[in-house]
This record gives sequence, structure tokens and C-alpha cells, in this order.
Amino acid sequence: MLAAAAKMAAVGITSPDGNLVLQVELDQFGAPYYTLDYKGKPLVEKSALGLKSDETSFIDGFRIVSTDTTTVDRTWQPVWGEYSEVRDHFKEMAVNLADKDDNRALTIRFRVFDDGLGFRYELPVQNGPNYLTVKDELTEFNFDGDHKLYCIPGDYDTDEYLWSETTFGALPEALAGYGKHTEAQRVEGTTIQTPMLLKTADGVYVNVHEAALDGYPAMLLDVDTKDYVMKSHLVPDRLGVSAYIELPFATPWRTLIVSDDARDILASQLVLNLNEPCKIEDTSWIKPMKFMGVWWEMFTGYEKTWAYSDDHLAKPGITDYTKLTPNGRHPANTENVKRYIDFAAAHGIDGVLVEGWNEGWEDWASYRKNRQFLFDKAYPDFDVAALRDYAKEKGVKLIMHHETSANAADYERQLDRAFQFMKDNNYDAVKTGYVGAIIPRSEHHTSQWMVDHARHVIERAADYQIMIDSHEAPRPTGLCRTYPNWLAQESARGGEFESMGGNPPSHTCILPFTRLKGGPMDYTPGLFETRMSYYGEGKDSQAGTTLARQLALYLTMPSPMQMACDLPENYERFPDAFRFIEEVPVDWADSKYLEAEPNRYITVARRDKHSDDWYVGAITDENARTAVIDLSFLPEGATYEATIYEDAPDADWKENPQAYRIRTVKVKPGQKLKQPLAPGGGAAIKIASRK
Ligand code: NOJ
Ligand code: CA
Repeated sequence: MLAAAAKMAAVGITSPDGNLVLQVELDQFGAPYYTLDYKGKPLVEKSALGLKSDETSFIDGFRIVSTDTTTVDRTWQPVWGEYSEVRDHFKEMAVNLADKDDNRALTIRFRVFDDGLGFRYELPVQNGPNYLTVKDELTEFNFDGDHKLYCIPGDYDTDEYLWSETTFGALPEALAGYGKHTEAQRVEGTTIQTPMLLKTADGVYVNVHEAALDGYPAMLLDVDTKDYVMKSHLVPDRLGVSAYIELPFATPWRTLIVSDDARDILASQLVLNLNEPCKIEDTSWIKPMKFMGVWWEMFTGYEKTWAYSDDHLAKPGITDYTKLTPNGRHPANTENVKRYIDFAAAHGIDGVLVEGWNEGWEDWASYRKNRQFLFDKAYPDFDVAALRDYAKEKGVKLIMHHETSANAADYERQLDRAFQFMKDNNYDAVKTGYVGAIIPRSEHHTSQWMVDHARHVIERAADYQIMIDSHEAPRPTGLCRTYPNWLAQESARGGEFESMGGNPPSHTCILPFTRLKGGPMDYTPGLFETRMSYYGEGKDSQAGTTLARQLALYLTMPSPMQMACDLPENYERFPDAFRFIEEVPVDWADSKYLEAEPNRYITVARRDKHSDDWYVGAITDENARTAVIDLSFLPEGATYEATIYEDAPDADWKENPQAYRIRTVKVKPGQKLKQPLAPGGGAAIKIASRK
């Protein structure tokens, strides 16, 4: 008896390769904690585990009843993605805990992969209360050192921030430098969001995030900057409740992607592996795509508007849109949309997104929301039927836009009508948006209610065979594996900020290490006119990029729904560079991360899913760099031709962003291509085999 109890005081498993060692123990109060070693050294020190609800606490008073261990090694085929096959290989240990009277039971399930750790809490049906009001989760990540942190401020509503490269000790200063977003709730103190990245003095990289966020709020991290501990901070609603759950219940997985090679963090599929397999039986209608949009005109030409009229300013109660006076600055009109369709058809671009097509924009920023958006009522100058037929004739898909202005409650009421309207008019994909403060007002963008809303929308969309690109939604946690119709999300500061202050070149050198671990981002690359001053007076900022770098982003920011964000007239000025956007695939058979350092540089090679062609993208931060592209990934037995889209020798993101060159060279497997990149620049390469 005693021996058995002693044996059960500490339990553990390793990763399949033995590099990660996980230990779980109970302290003197019967409270569970864990440690994680990497390559023989402590990485995560004694870290608390547990959950607290109003009804029951799952914190201490436990004994380890038993453990269930298993090893799994399997592969699965994503509908789209960076790889055509993903290996899911881990050792698992479920630690079954109970109190001495067997009134409280808790299982903590750990999976240790070669590239990291996932664990979650599973609450079986109890001998006590089975409806719980969760107020806190105790999960800690205790790092013993003043490590480097890459993070954005804790916020219940927005993640559209630039990234800090800081340390535990310097975090307060870094966070103090951020302004506040309107209608978003920043968390006071030293709270940050996930995914975040950490780098130890030993050069070990750790991405902290969560997987399969479903039926639960998102997790932020409260950072103890002196003891180097990060603790789970569940997003609450405005009543202070984080989650209402009914047992049995399993929380999302808490995830640590770990490696001393930065490239492994980029290549890791751990978050996807911890999500459930695809729930959609027939996925033949899910089609990766490139698209353009009646969109950038509204960001850059401030005189252009989503709204059809300015009348609302004088008469907020207007209900009949045919009585509005058109403002003449509304790009979502039939003629202009046809122009985009023509351009897309001529250049093999699959889709055209149109924003500002529907009634409601006159009022959209109003706090009172007198009039909601209507998702089946077009403005008088947008001819739904004519455009449906025109797009069809040209072989281009129109992409729907649903800006809900954060009125998620109203969106749910309109959802079926909105989706049916899409199907009736030949739309298969929709970009959704939640700008503003969430309605119901009790909620936040990342609270449990909105996580449930997002899941409801994606499931309903699947019923209608509709693909989704969501903006301002809860950040992705790999649910796109389960619902592959969730092609992309924004959930970070996207390319549109080039017109609102700019993104430094380093921004896209950190996103793949952090935000992208949850799933693809609708970053909107393809900006060819990089000087905002081109569009008019007063906007003299310069996008943080060269033109060639924008092409590289199609590789370094992979997404099955990839925009060519600029205006047709700007692409017409650079037709040879645009050829890369025409040709670059959006779905991959294989990916090889060749060089990487967070916030500094990324070089990646990918093989097209539908041909033997390889594509390479390389980007750098504000410093010039020579990428070394090791072509060992090319199979022997063929000769290869590389078309290189690169920064001209005198290119520079600030001074000379549009200076690019295109050259074609013969390359060989195993060759090491030295590729110069300008400050803030990049290179994009297509490698085709000539057998
Ligand atoms: C914010 C989105 O991120 C942006 O892409 C969109 O154009 C506007 N909302 C309007 O819906
Ligand atoms: Ca946004």
C-alpha cells in the first residue's frame, strides 16, 4: 500500500526521442505540478496545475489514483496546408487524480512530442456539482531565467499590435509603450497574449499557446517579471466569469513548442496535431484560392468609403436606402467590381472580394447601432444578379463580405438568411469581421461566448458549403484542422496597417513564430505601391517593405486564402513582378524551413501540391542580409531553372522600395544559392524542373 502510494507520488514520460522529460508530482497539500526538462536541463521548473470554479476547486487535496500511458505514431492528410501529410507522434500520460473521498476527480492528459508538450484538464462527471462556473485556471509556465520574450500586450478584444522583443525584466517598460485601442480592453499590469515566443540564454526557443480552443475562453498569460513565471489568465466576461461548463468537459490543450533550432518552431505541426480530425465528410468543395478585393481603395484613398451615402450624418434615423443621396465615392459599385473581375480573369486570380456592397455602413461605427448591417440587402449601385452572371461568365468567384461591426448576436439571427443569399448568388466564401465592442455587451472578442459564436458560424457555414476568412475573431488554435472550411483568419496586425502607421519589416519575421502557429493568416500581401504618399497628401508614410519582399510573403506567410491586395492599376505598372503572384500556389505538398531567427529573417522552400515546382521565399528585417539557400531539397535526376524575383542592388525599403530585378538561372540539387536581400527586403524564387 505504502509502496504503491510512494510510487504514485511522481510520474513521468519522455518525448519519443527522449529529449523532453515531463514529470508530474503532488506537493505536500496534494496539489499537482509539473516540470519539463529539455536535453538534460530544466526548462520549465515546478509549475502549478489546476482549475477553480465557484462550485468546486480542482487545486489540491488530491492523490494520484492511476496513470494511463500510451505511445501513438500516426499520420494524417490535411485538406490544405504546408504539408500533404503530417506525422502525429507522441507519448501520452493521463494522470488520474481524486480526493480522498472520491468526490472530486480530475484527469490531466499530457502528450509529449519530439517538438513539445500539450496538456489539458479533463473533468469527468463528479459525485459533486456537474455545472461549473470557472473563474480561474492555475496553470503555470515557470521559466527559470530572464529569458527573451516576443509578445503583444494582454487584451480581451484585439491582437492587432506590433510585437515587442523584450525580456521578463524589461516587460513592464515594453508594455507601457503601447497605446490603447478604442473599444478594446487592455489588461492592466504585465499580462501578455498567446501565442508568444521565448528564447532562453541557452538558445532554446519555446512557443506558448493553446490548441483546440472550443467551449472555453482564450488564455492570456500573467507574467511575474521577477520570478519568470507565466500564469494562465482566462478571459472573463464582464461579470467576471470565464467559463460556464457542463461535465464531462475537456479544456483546450496548453501547448509548448520547444526546440534549440528556430526552424523547428516554424515547421512544428504540434498545435494542429492536438486538434480533432476533420469533421466535414465531403471536403471537395473546400478550395484554396487567391483573390483580389475592392478593398485597398478604401484604406489608401481616404476619400473612398464603404458607405454609399453620407446622409446618415444629418439623418441618423434613415431606413429607406433608395432615398439616400449617393456620395459618389463608393467603390463597391457594379462597374468598378466588373473592372476587378476583368483583371482577375485576365490574370488567373480565383476570386474578388467586395467590401461595402450592403446596407448598413452609414451607421456602422455608431455605438447605438440604430441600424444593423443587412447581409441580403445590396446598395442601389451594386447589382447582385448582374455581377453574379458576369463573374460566372468570366470564371471568377465573387467573395462575400460580412462586417458585423461586432454585433455577433444580430449576425447569428441573420446567419441562415445571409448564407442562403450567398448560395443563391454563387458565393462560396465570406470574409467576416467584428470591428468594435461586442454585442452582447457583456462579452469580449475572446470570451467564451465569442469562442462559441465562432464555432457556431464555422459549423453553419460548413452546412452551406461556405468557406470563411474571419477578421477580429478569437485567435486561431488549429481548429482549421477540424473545420478546414476555416481557410484563414486575421487575428493579428495585418498588412492593412501599412496605411495606418506601418508595419516594420521585422513584423513579418515574428508572426510565423507566433500568430501563425494557430493557423493561416489573411495578412493581405502583394503591396506593389509601397509609398502611401502615392495616394494623396498627408499620407507620407512608407510601408515597411520592398516590392520583392511582398512576393516572398506568399511563401513566408502561407495561407490557403491569399490576397493580392493592391489595386489593378498598380499591378499593371509592374506586370513582370505580378507574374509571380499569378503563378505562386497556395497549397503545398512539402515545406523546408532553411534559415530562421525570430524577428530577424526567414527562408523557406515549398513544393507545389499540384506539380513538381518548388518555390522559395526569403525575408529579412530592416538590415540587409545574404540568404544562403541550400538546394539539397531538389531531387537529383533533373535540371532546374530558377526564376528569381529579387531586390535590385540599390533597393532599400525606405529609400528605394520598388527597385527589383528578375533573372533566370540554372540551378543544381545541393547547390548553395547566395541570395542578397535589401534592408527590409526579400526574394521570391520559382524553381521548375526541366527533365
Ligand atoms: C477590419 C478588417 O480587418 C478590414 O480588412 C476590413 O476591411 C474592415 N474591418 C471593414 O470591414
Ligand atoms: Ca482587423
